[in-house]
Amino acid sequence: MTEPEPSFVPRITRHLTAAATDIAEAAAVLRAGGLVAFPTETVYGLGADARSAAAVAALYSAKQRPRFNPLIAHFATTEAALAQGSFSRDAAALAEAFWPGPLTLVVPAGPGCTIIDLARAGLSTVALRVPRHPVARSLLQAAGCPVVAPSANRSGRISPTQAAHVRAELDGRVDCILDGGPTEVGLESTIVACLRNPVLMRPGGMTRDALEAVLGHGLGSVDGKAEILAPGMLASHYAPTASVRLGATTVGPDEAVLDFGGQLRGAGADPYLDLSPSGDLVEAAANLFGYLRGLDAGVVAIAVAPIPIEGLGEAINDRLVRAAAPRPPQ
Ligand code: TXA
Ligand code: MG
Repeated sequence: MTEPEPSFVPRITRHLTAAATDIAEAAAVLRAGGLVAFPTETVYGLGADARSAAAVAALYSAKQRPRFNPLIAHFATTEAALAQGSFSRDAAALAEAFWPGPLTLVVPAGPGCTIIDLARAGLSTVALRVPRHPVARSLLQAAGCPVVAPSANRSGRISPTQAAHVRAELDGRVDCILDGGPTEVGLESTIVACLRNPVLMRPGGMTRDALEAVLGHGLGSVDGKAEILAPGMLASHYAPTASVRLGATTVGPDEAVLDFGGQLRGAGADPYLDLSPSGDLVEAAANLFGYLRGLDAGVVAIAVAPIPIEGLGEAINDRLVRAAAPRPPQ
């Protein structure tokens, strides 16, 4: 699922800290059309000025991302995000309740939209998000422009939750990495499309229950609604190199184990990691991508214990199903 690299230019990737002077420097890099990886509360993003065709083209190349897959635009304030699109009553209620936070809203692009077509993959809609991470907010404020930011990994791979993961994925391909420590939520934002009735396009860091409580009604699902499928919701994604087997209640001789709540502790597997020994889904979400990445270094198969589907479990299971899906031919 990778494309040739039309405009890929090698870069020296600098490490920046979360100090104010470093954030100001990263903002200047963004304004000059550069590529900046930065922390959000969900995962690290790879930012580019959403108004610049050259910057957005370079971002697609750095990530080896297919250009039919549109990007999420990030803003420092809810007000700035609202100015980009047309918000239905439901969309406005979700924005009011959950921004800043781990929620992305897909809405029709409005007359004030400054996000270029390339970043939207030519769609008439736009994906908007206001992150709550203080480093992300300071960076966006200082940059003063809409910043498109996909997760800062090569296309199809596991999303980064630490600066070191970003370097492992994108060293030599981006200008700088702002290090804000490990991310809090650990899963990407929940994406809700508000075109007609709100539809859950990608479960994520904001739970379905919380969204439905604000809406006062259920969220639709993407099944059977092909016209608004997120082009990026490819079956195989978040793919480790090792094969992944879900719902494991026993462990094979060559399998590493990714456990939840100690279910497979007695099997004696090595390596063995437990997403949350106490069975806490919030802790499991925060650990998921880092543990998958850790287990992937040096094993051929990973057995994953069953994880309940409620709360953040919906998003955790969604990512694991994609990690376990058959891989497209390279
Ligand atoms: O938490 C997150 O959302 C992170 C952080 C960095 O903000 N970003 C992220 O971006 O996960 P990315 O590019 O990995 O995933 C964005 C998803 C893709 O599946 C894409 O297809 C979908 O959003 N998307 C973007 N614009 C869309 C649109 N107008 N309509 C439908 N789907 C859209
Ligand atoms: Mg991604």
